[in-house]
Amino acid sequence: MPLAASRKVELAGATAVVTGGASGIGKGIARAFRDAGSNVVIADIDEPELDAAARSLGVLGIATDVADPASVARLAERVMAEYGAVHVICNNAGVGPFGSIGEMTLDDWSFVLRVNLQGVVNGVHAFLPLLERNPDWGHVVNTSSIAALISPPLAGAYVASKAAVLGLTEVLAAELKAAGSRVGATALLPGTVRTNIRHSLRTRGPVEASGLYEVDLEERRPDARFIEPEEVGAMVLDAIRRDDLYVVTHPELLPVVSERHARLVAGAAPAATPDR
Ligand SMILES: NC(=O)c1ccc[n+]([C@@H]2O[C@H](COP(=O)([O-])OP(=O)(O)OC[C@H]3O[C@@H](n4cnc5c(N)ncnc54)[C@H](O)[C@@H]3O)[C@@H](O)[C@H]2O)c1
Repeated sequence: MPLAASRKVELAGATAVVTGGASGIGKGIARAFRDAGSNVVIADIDEPELDAAARSLGVLGIATDVADPASVARLAERVMAEYGAVHVICNNAGVGPFGSIGEMTLDDWSFVLRVNLQGVVNGVHAFLPLLERNPDWGHVVNTSSIAALISPPLAGAYVASKAAVLGLTEVLAAELKAAGSRVGATALLPGTVRTNIRHSLRTRGPVEASGLYEVDLEERRPDARFIEPEEVGAMVLDAIRRDDLYVVTHPELLPVVSERHARLVAGAAPAATPDR
């Protein structure tokens, strides 16, 4: 197995692309890159919000639908034409509507999986070859969710998509290390962050029937600790500098993850051999 190449991450002057960058966590990450002196491109399907965010941050905004591979390929081409290189792709765009599995239509499944999972696949597919072309370094950040490891009720499609993103990022990081690549990969697992995710259905066209609905978690979970997108942005930049595989924004939730794994191990352990 080749040794992992050493890399020196220099964010000033580097180019970072953030999908879902018009709002919430993506905007917070974009702001952190801008403040570090990077060239920043935000990509989003919501054009009015994208234009407003690009203006307020002073960065380039490119209208993109991450669920559409051709749209993501065009984004990559435009970034290369503008800056000549890409160092970081943050596949962050996502939707988080609620709905019970028994009531969701197949179109509901498709809506969530196409943005949250296929969107990440499209981003990795279009940008990884460009990152690997850099002589110095590159990094992929994929936004999963701590929900991937907690499986809250009424979030079936969301959990399925985020668990898949976590898994693909772990495999990607291992493959890059095994190949001695200077490209790293990080899975971002946010807990509750103050964003516009409660309006996730705003980007979906009209549908005849749906089991999905919007929930304001801040109202429903007054006990939860909500953090600001800017805090997440700072954590993401630190993780890129250190080449960390995981960013967990709410470590206080990790005991729930440990419990889940303990249950899994206990449930799968062979029954004790009875005394004879
Ligand atoms: N807010 C939280 O508490 C939380 C927790 C865990 C994970 N996340 C994840 O963080 C990511 C960002 O979400 P957020 O909370 O900032 O929500 P947000 O709604 O504020 O931002 C999401 C952005 O993604 C964009 N988007 C949606 N569909 C798109 C598409 N097809 N193509 C391009 N852009 C698209 C939206 O227009 C929006 O600007 C998501 O992947 C979400 O699942 C959020």
